[in-house]
Amino acid sequence: MSFAMFVTVVVICLASFGISRRLFQRVCRDVYTIYVSARFIRMVRNACTRGKLFIDVFEDVVAQNPQKTFIVFHNETYSYGHVDAQANRVARVLESVGFGRDDTLALVMSNEPAFIWIYLGVFKIGGRIAVVNHHLMGEALRSSIVSCAPKLVLVGDGIDEDLPARVAALKPALDMALYSYNPASDLACSRSEPGEDYPCFSSMMANTPGDPLPPGTRAGVKLSDSAAFIFTSGTTGLPKPAIITHRKMLQCGHNYRPVGFSSNEIMYLTLPLYHASALNLALLNVISVGATVVLREKFSVSQFWQDCVRHNVTCFQYIGEMLRYLVNTAPVPEETQHKVWAVVGNGLRADIWVKFKTRFQVKHIYEFYGSTEVPATAINLFNVPGSVGRLSPLLSRLMNLILVKVDQVTGEPHRNSDGRCELTTPGSYGVMLLKLTDKVQFDGYLGPAADTRKRIVQDVLEAGDFYVNTNDVFSLDADYNLFFKDRIGDSYRWKGENVSTAEVSNVMNTASFVQDTNVFGVKVPGYEGKTGMAAINLKENHEVDSEKIEELSNLCRSKLPGYARPRFLRFQRQMSLTSTFKQLKTDLAKEGYDTQVVRDPLYYLDRSKDEFKPLDEVAHKKIILGEIAL
Ligand SMILES: *[C@@H]1O[C@H](CO)[C@@H](O)[C@H](O)[C@H]1NC(C)=O
Ligand SMILES: *[C@@H]1O[C@H](CO)[C@@H](O)[C@H](O)[C@H]1NC(C)=O
Ligand SMILES: *[C@@H]1O[C@H](CO)[C@@H](O)[C@H](O)[C@H]1NC(C)=O
Repeated sequence: MSFAMFVTVVVICLASFGISRRLFQRVCRDVYTIYVSARFIRMVRNACTRGKLFIDVFEDVVAQNPQKTFIVFHNETYSYGHVDAQANRVARVLESVGFGRDDTLALVMSNEPAFIWIYLGVFKIGGRIAVVNHHLMGEALRSSIVSCAPKLVLVGDGIDEDLPARVAALKPALDMALYSYNPASDLACSRSEPGEDYPCFSSMMANTPGDPLPPGTRAGVKLSDSAAFIFTSGTTGLPKPAIITHRKMLQCGHNYRPVGFSSNEIMYLTLPLYHASALNLALLNVISVGATVVLREKFSVSQFWQDCVRHNVTCFQYIGEMLRYLVNTAPVPEETQHKVWAVVGNGLRADIWVKFKTRFQVKHIYEFYGSTEVPATAINLFNVPGSVGRLSPLLSRLMNLILVKVDQVTGEPHRNSDGRCELTTPGSYGVMLLKLTDKVQFDGYLGPAADTRKRIVQDVLEAGDFYVNTNDVFSLDADYNLFFKDRIGDSYRWKGENVSTAEVSNVMNTASFVQDTNVFGVKVPGYEGKTGMAAINLKENHEVDSEKIEELSNLCRSKLPGYARPRFLRFQRQMSLTSTFKQLKTDLAKEGYDTQVVRDPLYYLDRSKDEFKPLDEVAHKKIILGEIAL
């Protein structure tokens, strides 16, 4: 939209001032949202028509200012020029081992600068990268790696002491080349098993020139080609690789520009790079404007504001859990001495919104909704506490997004007697669907087409229309502010991670005395998201005893990453035969871990030793009051 048009529309909305102040505000907010979206769409369109990939955008930024600091890590700085040279080395080493166009590299690495140059290096030669969660263990790790059929697996040596060993243990089950990466070359690959074929990628880079690659090394790669795979638990089953195309990278990489993100920005990033919000949003937006990222292995409450002050941080990417930790921490002087003007992220709830904003004196909170795989987005531009953006009838039309009523039992969109879905009215809630058009496409998942098909809904408002289901439930207030409510289906969020209920029950079911397990999320006061609870049916003639509890504790400790270990167990005395599986889950979740309601034996996870302990009324009370941490 041109500026003149924008002014015209503002004048029209001024004219509507006569009607009512509230309506005036609503109209203005719609207009501003459209203005921001239009700028964004124009930027992306320009980027796409130039025929460039995101990696070309990166190289342009490097050419403009190679000395500019790109990454700060452990007080070390890495310029754009240096990172580019490293990426060129990565590309050359990859070529030398026979990795090329359309091959996939699986990267299992914690946050460190090498993550970024490996990521960029792969694109330099038209390859693809799958970023695997380095916390995973055993079967979940193996299935994540193999699901994207990589040609080689590169394993980092960062904060996870046992990561190389965990991957090496899978070696017999992985039919692909395995490399390790250790930036300190004298330590290179020291942890690989003697006699293991586990070559060191970083040593190979040391003898490789970092000058630009010959032109044309990625000629012919299209915007619609897959560039990266990011794992999401979706809503059912094990983590699935969502396809990130080169076009999606360009789109994500321009997301922050319309709200004033510039090359002066110094972004603090403590979220894991294997997540879309860190990789697709924070990192790509830093690159597209040539800004600086201050990277940390992981979030630290005690270092947070000190780091912000020390590095002149201007903005950071959050998840709600992070801000809750900060709000619950004793004051430090740095918390108001920093230069942070904006924070961007998701999952910040209304109850700590204002507390966070006032205590830490942050001007803008840009809470957004986005999904790794579905191209539906919304952003709160107006600091409305708890909201993820707006969805007025006008915006709904323009953005192809709708909220429809949900069937309580099946969790599917509700159908009326005509077989159509019904739009949610302000004041109530519904599941968000995105209309598919020739411009809006769903890239889906790598792997069985059924996984992708399951997400498509047909004949929603009229015969023959197609929508993709975000599986996310929102409520809408009278001013058309949108609030994220819940995720439908078989995953829940805990400590910033999606936990797949199937993954947890698969592990519990391996115990010899377990008949089956029903895993679901339950709310605990003071925590974002939901924590895992497992309702276990024992095999016939088995009773709960301390040995079984100990075995389950060991099982969880060895087979599940910390965030996925269920915090509550319930031993069901009998199978419920009256409800459907979904209903049963709903009922179990409703009763939760309330010792007043549940008559079955209950246990909770004592995090100090990661052991299950009986949950009595005293322990229950302590958990509610936050005296026992989960
Ligand atoms: C960075 O430097 C500061 C002060 O010089 C020091 O306190 C801090 O521990 C250093 N951080 C790291 C990660 O090395
Ligand atoms: C959680 O799942 C949703 C829906 O599949 C996905 O969009 C999101 O990126 C996932 N988040 C993480 C942290 O994996
Ligand atoms: C932060 O900004 C101050 C004042 O602008 C400057 O003196 C200092 O060198 C900067 N620190 C870093 C790490 O860039």
